[in-house]
Amino acid sequence: MADLSLRRRAPRILVVDDNPDNILLTRELLSSRGYDVTTATSADAAQAAIRKQHPDLILLDVIMPEKTGYELCHELKEDPQTRLIPVVMITGLTDREDRIRGIDAGADEFLNKPIFPEELFARVRSLLKLKEFTDELESVEAVLFTLARGVEARDPYTEGHCERLSHYAQDLGRYLHLDEDSVTALRRGGVLHDLGKISIPDHILKKGNHLTPDEWEIMKQHPVIGENICKPLKALRLVLPIIRNHHEHWDGSGYPDGLRSHEIPLLARVLQIVDVYDALRTTRPYKPARTHEDTENTMREEAARGLWDKEIVAEFFSMLEKHKEQAVA
Ligand SMILES: [Fe+2]
Repeated sequence: MADLSLRRRAPRILVVDDNPDNILLTRELLSSRGYDVTTATSADAAQAAIRKQHPDLILLDVIMPEKTGYELCHELKEDPQTRLIPVVMITGLTDREDRIRGIDAGADEFLNKPIFPEELFARVRSLLKLKEFTDELESVEAVLFTLARGVEARDPYTEGHCERLSHYAQDLGRYLHLDEDSVTALRRGGVLHDLGKISIPDHILKKGNHLTPDEWEIMKQHPVIGENICKPLKALRLVLPIIRNHHEHWDGSGYPDGLRSHEIPLLARVLQIVDVYDALRTTRPYKPARTHEDTENTMREEAARGLWDKEIVAEFFSMLEKHKEQAVA
C-alpha cells in the first residue's frame, strides 16, 4: 500500500461566484473528487484568498457585482505572482463575444452554465496537469537562481553584484525601449550570467587578474558551462545568448566565440556594459573601486579602442545621468 504521507497535497481550487447556490454545488462536486476547495463571493475576496492560499486553479464566474470576472482575470494575468495560475471562466452565456472578452482577459478555459460534472472534471484535470508542469519548471529555475547566488557568495568581493547587475540591466533594457521579454531576460541574465563559475575551482576564482595561461583557459569556459546548465529550460531561451556571449569584445578579441560588433547578441552587449561598470565601481582584492567619472572615462576609452559597443556605452551613461537629474529634482 502506498504511504499516504508521501502523496502530494490535494490540488487547491478557488471557486469565485457571487451566487451561494452555485458555490455550494461546485464545491460539492470538486470535493467529491478529493480537491481542496476554497470559495470567494467577490473579486476582492478572491484576491485576498489567492494571496493567502496560492490556489492551483481558479474557477471564475464572469458576472459579479462590482468587479467582473473579466477584470479580475485580467489583473491576475498581469501580475507575475499569479499569472501562471490557470483560470477557468464560467459563463452563463454562450455568446462568442463573451468568449473573446475572456480570451482577451487571459482566461485559460471556459465552462458554460449549467455545469456538467464530467466536463468540469475533465477541464480541471487537464489544467491542473499543466499547472503541475509549470510549477516544476519554476522550481528548476529557482534552483538555478539559488546556485548562481551560491557562486557569488564564494567570492565575498562580488557580493551584491548579481542583484545590482540585474537591476541596472533591466533599467538599461527599458531605456533602450526593448520589449518586455528582453527586459525579463536581462533581469535573469544579471543573476545567471556567471552561473558556469560553479565549476571553476576556488583558487582560480579568487585569484583575480593574475591567472596563468592554463588557469585562464579554465576560467574562459564559464560562459559555455553556464549556457549548458541552463539550456534544457525553455523559459531561459532568451537568457542563453547573454550567458554565452557576455565576454565577447566588439573587435572580436573576446571569448568564447570571438564574435565581433553586431554578431554579438544585443542582450549580451547590454549586460556586458553594466557588468563592466559594476566591476570597475567595486573594490576587488586586486584593485580599489573607481569613481563614477573615472569609470565613465575608462569605459568610453575602452569602447573607442574596440572592446565595447560605443552606442550602448553612451546610452548607459546618458541613462545614469538622467537618473541623477531625477534624483536631484
Ligand atoms: Fe563572466
